[in-house]
Amino acid sequence: PGQWTRVIALTELPADDVAAAHAGGREIALYRVGNDVYATDNICTHGHARLCDGFLDGHEIECPLHQGKFDVRNGRALCEPLTEDIATLAVKVENGDVFIEI
Ligand code: FES
Repeated sequence: PGQWTRVIALTELPADDVAAAHAGGREIALYRVGNDVYATDNICTHGHARLCDGFLDGHEIECPLHQGKFDVRNGRALCEPLTEDIATLAVKVENGDVFIEI
């Protein structure tokens, strides 16, 4: 287990939107699906594209470069051209701030 690090205020992450943050020397993408928040690495496992620039549809983030899709809940690669899952990070929301474990 890592350390809980504050990355963003919940108000900066509108419902059904994705935002980017830096923590622990990593680029993180944060997703809000309804009232739930999820975090993954921001850089796609297929090429050098940022998932924060992609399109979030329910629990699926679509990469802006070749339209690969990941499930933001578990990082699973859902379709071609992806062959590798993406790393996820534990998230908690406290007093209106979003923390990830890193
Ligand atoms: Fe993301 Fe190719 S870089 S699908």
